[in-house]
Amino acid sequence: MESKRIAAEKAAEFVKDGMIVGLGTGSTAYFAIQKLGQRVKEGLSIKAIATSKQSEELAKEVGISLLPFAEIETIDLTIDGADEVDEEWNLIKGGGGALLREKIVASASKQLIIIVDESKLARQLGAFPLPVEIVQFGHELTIKKLRKLGADPVLRQAGNEPYLTDNGNYIADCHFGTIAQAKELHQTLNLIPGVVDNGLFVGMATHVIVGYQDGTVQEILKS
Ligand code: 5RP
Repeated sequence: MESKRIAAEKAAEFVKDGMIVGLGTGSTAYFAIQKLGQRVKEGLSIKAIATSKQSEELAKEVGISLLPFAEIETIDLTIDGADEVDEEWNLIKGGGGALLREKIVASASKQLIIIVDESKLARQLGAFPLPVEIVQFGHELTIKKLRKLGADPVLRQAGNEPYLTDNGNYIADCHFGTIAQAKELHQTLNLIPGVVDNGLFVGMATHVIVGYQDGTVQEILKS
C-alpha cells in the first residue's frame, strides 16, 4: 500500500491551479484523490470528473468539486491506476470494474498519468486476466464468442450474483495468455456485438509513475 501511496502522491504534484482533473478508480487512485483533497483544503482550485461512483463519493467527501460532462470539452490531466503496464505503456485496466468510464475520461484527457506499484510492471501484458465489459442481454452468447477467441472467459461474480458495473453491465474476465498484439486484440474484441469495451488501453498513457517497495518513486521512461 505504501508504494501505491507514494506513486499517487507524486502524481498529485502534476495538478495545478485551474485544472480540470480526471479522478481514477481503485486503491492507488484512492490515495491520489485523498492527496488532492488535502491540497484543495490548502487552497488548490480544481474541478474534477470521476471515473466511478466510488471515486465520485470519495471526491465529495474530501471536498473536491465535480463537474458534469456537459460543462467540459477536455480534461487537463487524469490520474488513474492500472492492473498491468507493459514496456510500451499499454495497459490492462478494469480490475476494479470501472474500465468503461475510465476509458471515456482517459480519451478526453490531454495527459493520462498512470500510478502503479512495481508489481504491475510487465514485459508483455496478459498475466492479469483482461476485463471485458459486456451487456446483460445475450451475455451467454457474447461469452461464447469470447471463448472462440481463446479467452477462457469467466463471468465476474459479486457474491452469488454477476458483478454489475456502474453502467449496469457485466464483466467477463478473459485469460488470453500473453497479449502480443494489444491494439489488434482491442479492436477485435470491441467488434463483437454485446461487448461494450475492454480493459486494454493502448497508447493512452502519457506518464507512468511507479512506487517501489524500498520507498522510492520514479517516473519511468518508455523503452
Ligand atoms: C479499476 C482499475 C484500477 O485502476 C486497477 O484495477 C488498479 O487498481 P488498484 O489501484 O486497486 O491496484 O482499472 O477499474
